Formats: sequence, structure tokens, C-alpha cells
Amino acid sequence: MEQIKVELGFDSYVIHVGSGSLAQLSKLRDGMHLSSTALVITDETVGALYGAQVVENLRQAGFHAEMKAIAPGEESKSLAVAEDLYTKAIEMGLDRLSPIVALGGGVVGDLAGFVAATYMRGVPFIQIPTSLLAQVDSSVGGKVAVNHPLGKNLIGAFYQPRIVLIEPNMLDSLPEREFATGLAELIKHGIIGDSRLFAELQQNDKAIWEKDPVMLTRLVSRSCRIKADVVQQDEREASLRMILNFGHTIGHAIERAANYKYSHGEAVAIGMHGAARISRDCGLCSQQTVDQVCDILTKYCLPLKVQGCTVRQLEAYLMRDKKTINGKINWVLLNSIGSAVVKNDIPEHIVTKALSQITIEY
Ligand SMILES: NC(=O)c1ccc[n+]([C@@H]2O[C@H](COP(=O)([O-])OP(=O)(O)OC[C@H]3O[C@@H](n4cnc5c(N)ncnc54)[C@H](O)[C@@H]3O)[C@@H](O)[C@H]2O)c1
Ligand SMILES: [Zn+2]
Repeated sequence: MEQIKVELGFDSYVIHVGSGSLAQLSKLRDGMHLSSTALVITDETVGALYGAQVVENLRQAGFHAEMKAIAPGEESKSLAVAEDLYTKAIEMGLDRLSPIVALGGGVVGDLAGFVAATYMRGVPFIQIPTSLLAQVDSSVGGKVAVNHPLGKNLIGAFYQPRIVLIEPNMLDSLPEREFATGLAELIKHGIIGDSRLFAELQQNDKAIWEKDPVMLTRLVSRSCRIKADVVQQDEREASLRMILNFGHTIGHAIERAANYKYSHGEAVAIGMHGAARISRDCGLCSQQTVDQVCDILTKYCLPLKVQGCTVRQLEAYLMRDKKTINGKINWVLLNSIGSAVVKNDIPEHIVTKALSQITIEY
């Protein structure tokens, strides 16, 4: 079992990673000054697999716990679904010290976190992330949100959980494409902040594909450590936190331009390839670094190139990105594996060249 402390002053919390981490639920009532009613928010798929176990754990710990399952999928991350959840919370009589538990992937985590941040101006929030993406990325850092019909994650807040419990065994039931999406974020954390994690990913692909729980515990906790370190230094994304967007500037453009044919992780993989090429062409990193990025993505069956959109379309979406300010894009680029920088003065022709090298137009 690994424990990662996220130091955010009054909002500090611990991430528990490893088989048996759910046992921490039994200690919640003593340690955290919580009321006895708990609402578990999950989706129908995850709820059917793990809901009963989590509710039972909470009941044994002395909570009156009930579960509410939403339909799986991004469409549920809406104000309308949030309103249903507020209704459930009010009907159950949740008070200001009643915990809301998110049991699921990033959709459930973001939505339940948003409800926890806003119901009665904020109630205790507990994360049990069940997808690899949620375990290595979305459950750490305190960004919670719902989507608006005009854009993703536009309605949200920074709201830290009280505790995060990660059971790698839960990944056994995760579909392969979802697992690969999480791997892209895990690889991203190695590339931007931890060359040792990167080397472990290079060497242990077989054990990772087999979802070896000991290996996953180690890698997930290292990945959480990197994100936690960044978030500790820059909770509200003033500067350093931007490095977590490595691969995402182009990745988001790909998701939209190719009409969501690519999963988030696949789009980010192509985006990381593009960003590595930009880094090399700006003289920041060597060709060897670009090769290392390509090799690891290929090893994990992630794509290097996009098909189904044009360079022009990608450029148009880059300019529309919500993180583009006054026409300037904040590029997260590489010095080497394990070291990233943010630059906003990249010449257009370098970007266009990289985009044309990662796009298969037909
Ligand atoms: N808050 C943040 O910092 C942050 C960061 C990255 C992404 N996100 C958000 O996360 C969301 C994507 O998260 P996601 O990829 O986890 O998607 P998701 O929550 O939709 O989960 C993916 C699918 O896997 C299923 N699933 C999850 N865990 C499972 C398990 N253990 N066994 C079987 N099936 C399981 C879900 O039912 C779902 O169908 C997006 O909405 C994105 O905006 C947030
Ligand atoms: Zn991402």
C-alpha cells in the first residue's frame, strides 16, 4: 500500500493506493468529523460491479449510505444530472458534514465533485476512482466540473477531496480502450516530470498490460506523486500546472477536428508526438527525445498520427482552444524526458510543420 500526501495547507489530503485501500472507509467516521449519512454517486456500469461493496463498507463503518447511479458517459456531466443529485441529497437529508463519495471514472469524479463543492456551499468529498485515467489524473488536483452545451468543463470549481482511495484491482474490469486512455496520461506524467517512471513504463509493458496489481500500485502512485507535486506548487493553474497539459493543446484540437473518433488518450498521444517535434524544431530537445516519445507510445499501441482531418482544421481548432489567450498558445514543450517547459512564442511555421508531420491527409 502506498500513501501520497497532497500538501495544500488546510485542504491537504492523502491518496491511498493499493489492494485493500477501501478498508480506509472504516476509519472515516473516527478521523474526519463526518455526519452519519453518506451518498455514493456512481455510474450504472461501475455501480453494478463495485457499488454494493462500497455501500457495505460504509454501512459497516456506521454510515447510513445510499447509492445513486447515473447513466455512464460524458453526457451525464451536466447541470441537469447535477440537479437530480442535489434532489437525492436533499431527500436523504445530507447536512454540511455528510460525505459525498465518487465511485467511478472521471465523469463521476468531476460531476460528484461539482455536486459536493456546491451542495450547501460544500460538503466533504471522497474519491474512489475506478478508471486508470481517474486514478492517475482526474481524481488528483481538485478540478471539478460539469459541461455546458457550448463547451466542456465550463461550469466548475477547484474543490479538493478529503481522501482518495485507489484499488488497482478494480482496473481488471476496465475495457482495454479505456485502459489505454489512462496509460496515455500515465506516460505523459513520466515524460513531463519523472524519467524513472518513464523508464519503468518502457521496461514493464507486459506486466502493465496484464494489470499486475503490484506494478500498477507502484506506477499509479508515482504518477499521482507527480501530479500532486505540480498541484501543490500551483493549485490554481497560474503557471507550473500548465505542464500537465502536455500533448493536450494538439490533442483537444484532434478530438474536435476528427469528430471524437479518437479517444482522449489517443488524441493526447498524437498531441505529445506533435509537441515533441515542435520542441525539437525549436532547439529545445534532441531527435533522441522525439524517438523515445514515439517508441513508448507505439509500445502501448497508441497512435502517432491523426487521420480524418486536415492541418488547416487543426490550426483553426488550436486558435479556438479556451487556453489560447490573445491568439497566443501556451505550448508545453520538452527539454528532455522528465523535463518540460511552457513557451508562448513558438513561430507559426514550426507548428504547421509539426502538424503536417502528424496528420495523414487523404
Ligand atoms: N478533473 C480533472 O482534473 C480531469 C482530468 C482529466 C479528465 N477529466 C475528465 O474525466 C472524464 C473522463 O474520465 P474517464 O476516462 O474515466 O471516463 P468515464 O468516467 O466515462 O469512464 C470511462 C468508462 O469506463 C467505465 N468504467 C470506469 N471504471 C470502470 C471499471 N473499473 N470497470 C469497468 N468499467 C469502468 C465507465 O462506466 C465508462 O463507461 C472527462 O469528463 C474529462 O473531462 C477530468
Ligand atoms: Zn487528459
